[in-house]
Amino acid sequence: MGHARWTPDNWRSKPVEQMPAYKNLAELAEVEKQLAGFPPLVFAGEARKLKQALAKVSAGEAFLLQGGDCAETFNEHSADNIRDFFRVFLQMAVVMTFAAASPVVKVGRVAGQFAKPRSSNVERLNGVELPSYRGDIVNDLRFEAAAREPDPQRQLLAYRQSAATLNLIRAFANGGYANLENAHRWMLSFVKDSPQSGRYEELAERITETLGFMRAIGLDPEQHHELRQTDFYTSHEALLLGYEQAMTRIDSTTGDYYATSGHMLWIGDRTRQPDYAHVDYFRGIRNPIGMKCGPSLKGEELIRLIDILNPDNEPGRLTLICRFGADKVGDHLPGLIRAVEKEGRKVVWSCDPMHGNTITAATGFKTRPFDRIMSEIKTFFAVHQAEGTYAGGIHLEMTGKDVTECTGGARAISDADLRDRYHTHVDPRLNAEQAIEVAFLVAELLKAERLSAVRPKSVQAAE
Ligand code: PEP
Ligand code: CO
Repeated sequence: MGHARWTPDNWRSKPVEQMPAYKNLAELAEVEKQLAGFPPLVFAGEARKLKQALAKVSAGEAFLLQGGDCAETFNEHSADNIRDFFRVFLQMAVVMTFAAASPVVKVGRVAGQFAKPRSSNVERLNGVELPSYRGDIVNDLRFEAAAREPDPQRQLLAYRQSAATLNLIRAFANGGYANLENAHRWMLSFVKDSPQSGRYEELAERITETLGFMRAIGLDPEQHHELRQTDFYTSHEALLLGYEQAMTRIDSTTGDYYATSGHMLWIGDRTRQPDYAHVDYFRGIRNPIGMKCGPSLKGEELIRLIDILNPDNEPGRLTLICRFGADKVGDHLPGLIRAVEKEGRKVVWSCDPMHGNTITAATGFKTRPFDRIMSEIKTFFAVHQAEGTYAGGIHLEMTGKDVTECTGGARAISDADLRDRYHTHVDPRLNAEQAIEVAFLVAELLKAERLSAVRPKSVQAAE
């Protein structure tokens, strides 16, 4: 391709979508300068370790679980929220690890998921027009002119909050809380309380027996760090490029540029134009990256983007996060898979069953029906099965709290229930119970995938 030398500010000379219009550019520059002097949130070595784990996913030897808030907020920043999210995430991972009989790569949409793309630059209410809310790192959700003004100082708050969140997550992941038997015990109490417990009991029972067997032969968590701690990674949509540039650093061991705002960053469906700023920023960092693939993406353009983003065809570098909608995935996914297979590109295929399935309920709330979410996941697995490729992951918007934002699930949340605990700032999330239910249902698909031994052709050939 012959790229000119890349620098983290390269994107500034390209056309750009979805950027806030800051009024005080001197203040913005001052904030970015401050950020550039702050410590990194993650290390390059950790990002490389995640890339290796994702390379295993692309080879069909592990499964990716990625999830968290649509948008983190300054208001909901508390130890309880982080703990509840982490706890639900681990329960999901236990169920899925067991069913897949392979490692689950755990990546939170957390500790940096603040900036949001919007379908319109402005919002209108009762004849008043204001700039759209773009996430707490940019402006405030309150529908008032002053609150909606993009404020550079918010980037410093988002950085501090990300650091505090990551600190607690690191403590949970490494300090004994993530102990396998804890996660198992929480999962059992979920199963007991679920209105559909019958459906989940058998799998739960088998995990209990397996852990009992492990303990009996002397594999107890006190002695084995694999059972006591876990690798947990962070990710977010790298939308606010000034912030990302300031957090981009040269890794002293390799001399390469890494984003240090999170382990994995992804490009949104609205900002993946090949010659634009976001794609240019992403091509220069060496982290594992994701790209959202929506219905407007054609095979040819996908290959062009892969050429730019992963020119060396490095496995684990690029995760394609597909978000077509339950009714469209069957039409759109096969073409993209065929284009990638024909060119021999190594990617991770992950399913985001959230963003193509958002509807407005009769009550006016934005929601996502649980059945449509599951339907997109099932079709995603079926298409991969038919194409002989590996369904490698899921990407969810979820919380550890008992919110009422998505309808359906075992507790059958109705349109009328949505107003009870509807807390999201942007998109509706699965609540704790619904998220674990998805994990149990995906477990069934993973088991079927394992038994039919679908592995990418390149791996079969090597065996
Ligand atoms: C998101 O993940 O919150 C998002 C905005 O997704 P997409 O870019 O796929 O619309
Ligand atoms: Co969202």
